[in-house]
Amino acid sequence: RRIYYYPTTGSTNEEAKKIAGEGALHGSLVIAEEQTGGKGRMGRVWISPPRVGIWMSIILRPGIQPYEAPRITMTGAVAAAKAIRERTGVTCHIKWPNDILVEGRKVAGILTEMSADMDGINYVVMGIGINVNNEDFPGELKEIATSLKLARGEAVDRLDILTGFLSRFEDCYNYLEAGEFKKILEEWRLLSCNLGRRVRVVGKNFAVEGIALDVDDDGALLVKSESGQVERILSGDVSLKA
Ligand code: BTN
Repeated sequence: RRIYYYPTTGSTNEEAKKIAGEGALHGSLVIAEEQTGGKGRMGRVWISPPRVGIWMSIILRPGIQPYEAPRITMTGAVAAAKAIRERTGVTCHIKWPNDILVEGRKVAGILTEMSADMDGINYVVMGIGINVNNEDFPGELKEIATSLKLARGEAVDRLDILTGFLSRFEDCYNYLEAGEFKKILEEWRLLSCNLGRRVRVVGKNFAVEGIALDVDDDGALLVKSESGQVERILSGDVSLKA
């Protein structure tokens, strides 16, 4: 397995999918100083200016079923939250499904893409963006995004965050492959800022308001709505209510 390093690229996820399609090994890493077409969830843009963040994608060939792929994203979120806490002392939380927040603002996000067919998963590309030393954000992002530097008040060593993340991810990923996802889920619950709180979830064709009860093995969020019914939500955007 190799590390593919780019001073600049469109999107490390796009690059990783290409390389994975050409046979790159499990555990290969694509990392860039800058992305000119960084992608977020739900078709959004991920602002990735040069040399201030960690913009990278990991190519995985996991021995799990396609429906279990959200577990990889949750594993990435746990590893990122732990690495940030350990290496900076900054308190961060996971907001379902996979955002890392500091004081209510987003500091990191994960975008997982997969290629699968009837035989199962070909590859998974787990892309992660961590705002490390960004000093400002454009337009409306000002209100909702932050960086580790802004949170801590001093610059943070990107390499330290990167190595911290990779070693945590390797530990957590081994649990996943060993059939011990329950352990990751336990950590996810402890690091989350959703559970037990009133949330509003907006998806493609729905909006639900209620109490976030739990996440299940498939990474779905369980929300108890006003009517007492428990909704199982697989994809959407969560906002926390007072
Ligand atoms: C999100 O929270 O919306 C997900 C953001 C994921 C951003 C990372 S940066 C590296 C990788 N390449 C991309 O184009 N996106 C992911």
